[in-house]
Amino acid sequence: MNRALPRFARLRRLRGNAALRDMVVDVRLHPSSLILPLFVREGRGIRREVSSMPGVFQLSSDEVVKDLKKAEQLGLKAFILFGVLERHEKDHAGSAALDARNLICRTLQAVKKSGIGMAAITDLCFCEYTSHGHCGVLMKVGKRSRDVTVENDATLKRLATQAVNHARAGADMIAPSGMMDGAVAAIRSALDAKGFSNLPIMSYAVKYASSFYGPFRDAAESAPAFGDRRSYQMDGRRRREALLEARADVEQGADVVMVKPGLPYLDILRELKNALDVPLAAYQVSGEYAMIKAAAQKGWLDEKAVMMETLTAMKRAGADLILTYYAREAARML
Ligand code: PBG
Repeated sequence: MNRALPRFARLRRLRGNAALRDMVVDVRLHPSSLILPLFVREGRGIRREVSSMPGVFQLSSDEVVKDLKKAEQLGLKAFILFGVLERHEKDHAGSAALDARNLICRTLQAVKKSGIGMAAITDLCFCEYTSHGHCGVLMKVGKRSRDVTVENDATLKRLATQAVNHARAGADMIAPSGMMDGAVAAIRSALDAKGFSNLPIMSYAVKYASSFYGPFRDAAESAPAFGDRRSYQMDGRRRREALLEARADVEQGADVVMVKPGLPYLDILRELKNALDVPLAAYQVSGEYAMIKAAAQKGWLDEKAVMMETLTAMKRAGADLILTYYAREAARML
């Protein structure tokens, strides 16, 4: 095929007015592809704004229900729930994660009881439940107290239990985010064994160890007390590993595969889009949101325009779904 430009091409012809421009776009954002992250904490009537994420709140579960009713009106189809535990509820092993009556399970039940039809996705990880803030059970790898890493296979067993609890409480999709090898297989077989073979898994398959997660760790109060997550999350200098991670998860039964963060990793998103046929999700993470907010508050950027431009970029790169703290604002504009 000859892809050279015809001699008299005038590419500006299709840019002449808004109607023409709208007709010829390759990608369209729609509220049904946006996923709203929510942070829940114990109590009633609580709405605590996260200082590094203006417009994002830690909510008690009654407030979660209120917010979801409004979100549903805007055409959003799904939310993802993160738990913010009190310090005294956390321990070394993240035991609260295994309690079938914990905050997340009770919130799921409350949401389902209220008749909200949105899909409930739960983030499956231990960092919100452990006193040290790491994503699973720790093991020593050296002499110093900070020479620890997450013990993979012991964590898998616990993730499986946590997943079944979420399923029983009404989750519509499980999203393992801890970057443990074999997590999808472990969760899949546990769910299948307990009668949840139809419950989909959205895997945080390609999750880079990123400095863009900073504000989230304020929101979820889940920053690691020592060390970092580099022994389980991916190194940003590696590109091809993303395909290994994604293929491994699809093989283990992942229904949706996620790339995270979004904007700094658009190349990875496109690469997966070209190689895989499962739906892809991109996570516009807390730091991406905070950067736009901060610049907008200073009057340096047009917030709504930049929000739409970044979300469109993720869609264009290959995201079928986008997790974003801007889900409501974007849905309103669409
Ligand atoms: C839990 C988890 C994190 C995020 C989503 N799930 C934090 C982390 O890995 O430290 C980050 C989301 C965001 O920054 O918006 N493991």
